[in-house]
Amino acid sequence: MPKCKNLDNKYAVVTGASKGLGYEYCKELLRLGYNLIGIARNTESLEILKKEYSNRDIQRWDYDLSVFENNKKIVDKCIGYEIDIFINNAGYGVWGFFSESDIDREMNMIDLNIKSLHYLTKKMIQRFSEKNFGRVINVGSMASFTPAPVFASYYASKAYVFSLGVAVNTELKKMKSKVRVITVCPGPLKTDFWNRSSNQKNAKYKSSIKVMKTSVYAKKSLKIAIKTKNKNYVVTGLSNKFIKKITKWVPMSWTLNSVYNYQRKRK
Ligand SMILES: NC(=O)c1ccc[n+]([C@@H]2O[C@H](COP(=O)([O-])OP(=O)(O)OC[C@H]3O[C@@H](n4cnc5c(N)ncnc54)[C@H](OP(=O)(O)O)[C@@H]3O)[C@@H](O)[C@H]2O)c1
Repeated sequence: MPKCKNLDNKYAVVTGASKGLGYEYCKELLRLGYNLIGIARNTESLEILKKEYSNRDIQRWDYDLSVFENNKKIVDKCIGYEIDIFINNAGYGVWGFFSESDIDREMNMIDLNIKSLHYLTKKMIQRFSEKNFGRVINVGSMASFTPAPVFASYYASKAYVFSLGVAVNTELKKMKSKVRVITVCPGPLKTDFWNRSSNQKNAKYKSSIKVMKTSVYAKKSLKIAIKTKNKNYVVTGLSNKFIKKITKWVPMSWTLNSVYNYQRKRK
């Protein structure tokens, strides 16, 4: 087992812990020495980590976070644990032309990407403020920075995540609080995200943009998100930083055309 700091009874919570980026965050947090509460609709995959980190408490909480009541249950259940980090990572997209995409899937995505994240962020910030310590890490996206024809509602949901997190983190800094809400903004990662977002099983991942390894992204982004005092959000990787810069300077119509051409060809 990898060496780690002794964080005794400290816990980190990760939503969307069963696979993809969330699973990599779980591995990284265990490596750093935290006990873990992993949440997803099916957390069976965490059994592997339980075997690997047998001296750590790893809780598997199976909940569908798009069902609002479940978020309340989670907050209540968290009361018994010494939590320092809460990562709102669970999320997915609904790809397609807005006039054609499935409204029920979009509403469910909003319940997960926005409503659940909003509620859990507020409740954890209130709890962390009592001890003046703790971090909520919200998973936004490079999609937070621009509207996206052909993937409109997903990008809009990530713009919400970014806007909320940056504003709340600024409030906390102004209040001289040690509590933080850090928004991490990954570029494309090779996970199951695209299968669900395109509503196709085993959809081939297509991207003309260089993709960072999910484990590398988890390690890099977590390191910054845990430590930073002043940053509101984290963008890592040269191409992501370049895209972020360029969208600030080029006309909006150019960005919209580029995103349209990129997203339209993805299926
Ligand atoms: N992949 C990318 O290119 C990319 C880029 C930027 C940002 N992101 C963001 O990164 C985050 C993680 O995505 P990923 O790429 O790792 O996708 P993923 O591999 O599909 O993982 C999504 C995770 O969320 C969980 N989840 C989905 N619906 C849920 C629900 N209703 N309730 C509870 N848990 C739920 C899934 O577990 P269950 O299915 O067991 O519930 C899974 O653990 C998302 O917020 C996504 O928007 C991804």
